[in-house]
Amino acid sequence: MAEQKTQWDRNRSRRMKWWHEARFGMFVHWGLYSQLGRHEWVMNRERIPLKEYEKLARTWKPKERPAREWASLAKQAGMKYMVMTTKHHEGFCLWDTKQTNYNAMKCGPKRDLVREYVEACREFDLKIGFYYSLMDWHHPDGARCAKNEAARRRFTDFTQGCVRELCTNYGKIDVMWYDVSWPLRSPELWESSKMNAMVRELQPHIIINNRSQLPEDFGTPEEHIRAAEKGRAWEACMTFNGSWGWQPCPPEDWHSVRKVIEMLRTATAGGGNLLLNIGPKGDGSVPDEAAERLVPVGKWLKKFGEPVYGKVDRAEGIEGWLPTGRWTRKGNTGYYWVTRWPGEELVIGGMKSKLLSASFVQDGKPIKFRQTKDQLILRGLPKTSPDKIAEVTVLKLDFKTKPKQVLGTGCVVLCKR
Ligand code: GLC
Repeated sequence: MAEQKTQWDRNRSRRMKWWHEARFGMFVHWGLYSQLGRHEWVMNRERIPLKEYEKLARTWKPKERPAREWASLAKQAGMKYMVMTTKHHEGFCLWDTKQTNYNAMKCGPKRDLVREYVEACREFDLKIGFYYSLMDWHHPDGARCAKNEAARRRFTDFTQGCVRELCTNYGKIDVMWYDVSWPLRSPELWESSKMNAMVRELQPHIIINNRSQLPEDFGTPEEHIRAAEKGRAWEACMTFNGSWGWQPCPPEDWHSVRKVIEMLRTATAGGGNLLLNIGPKGDGSVPDEAAERLVPVGKWLKKFGEPVYGKVDRAEGIEGWLPTGRWTRKGNTGYYWVTRWPGEELVIGGMKSKLLSASFVQDGKPIKFRQTKDQLILRGLPKTSPDKIAEVTVLKLDFKTKPKQVLGTGCVVLCKR
C-alpha cells in the first residue's frame, strides 16, 4: 500500500492537470430533501422521524432527465466539471445499488439517477464527480458503528460496497468527493486507505478529496475561499444562497453575477478551484435564480476567460487591495480585474516590475501607459467600464519579470522626506 501511495503522489500532477486548468465546476445537491425545500439537513434539524422521512422515497417523481438541464447550464456558465450527490446524509442512494433498497431504482423515481447524471455530463463534455456522504442517517449501523465493532464491520462493508459500485458501473469517473466522516474517529476505523486504494485501482486517473480523514489529492474549504498552503491543491465549495439543497429565499440572498465573478477571481488568484452549488427542486428543475445568474457569468467568461482557465500562478506579491480592482496572475502577466471603473485614467501604485505592454483581455486592444517609480498610469481609457455584463473589465499587463507590487502603509511623500 505504501508503495502504491508513493506512485499516486508521484503521478498527482499528471492526474490533476485538467482539474487545475478547469477552475470552475458545478456542485449539485439533489435528494429526497429537495421535495421539501428546507435545506438538505431538514431531517436532522426538524427531527423528522425516520418512518416519516422514508415516505419521501415513495413520493419522489422527478421529471424526465433533469441532469441534462444542469449540464447544459453548467456548460453555458463556463463550468468544466460537475459533482453530484449520489447519497447525502439522509442515506437515500440515487443509483441502482445492491447495498440497500432505499434507492432511486426501487423507490419513487424507479430510475438510476446517477446514470442519467453521468450520461448528461458526457453529452455536454463535462468531467464527472461523485459526492458521497460517509455519514448516513438511515443505515441502521450508521450511528451505532461508533460503539459496536460488529456494526462498524457491517457499515464499512456497506460503505465500501457503495463506493465500489459507483466506481465500477458508470465508466470513467473523474472525481471522488467524500463528505462528513461522522461518527468514526479515525481513517483506520473508516478503512479509508483501503477504500481509496480500491477507488484508485478501479479508476486509476481519479482525483479524491480530503474528507475521508486522509489528505488525498485536494482540500475543500467550505463557504469561504482561502488558498491552501503552497503546493497543496484546493477547491472552495460554495452555496449559491446559503443552502446546498433546494430552498426558496429572497433574491438578495443569491450571490449576484458580480459576486460569482469575484469568487472566481479569488479562487484564481490563489491557484484554486471554485465549485459552485445549485440545489435543483424536487422535480429536478434548476431554480430560476441560479440560471439567471449563471448564464451571464458564462457570457462574461466567454469574453474574459483568459485569466481564469489554464495554468495560473498564485498572485503573491500583488495580492493587495486597490480602490479600483484586484489581481490574478499567469507567469509574468498580471491580470487586473477592474470592478470599479475609474474613468479615462487608471492608476496602479507601487509596481516594482517594468511594464512591457497593456491591453484589454476581451479584444486584445492595446492600452497606452506611462510608468514612474511609484505609479503605473493607464491612459486613454473609455469613460465607463467596457464590460456591460457585470462591469468587471480585465486588463492584461505584461511585465518584464514576475509582477511585484509594494504598497506599505505610509504615504510616499512622507516616506521620502
Ligand atoms: C457540509 C454539509 C453538507 C454539504 C457539504 C458540502 O458538510 O453537511 O450538507 O453537503 O457540506 O460541502
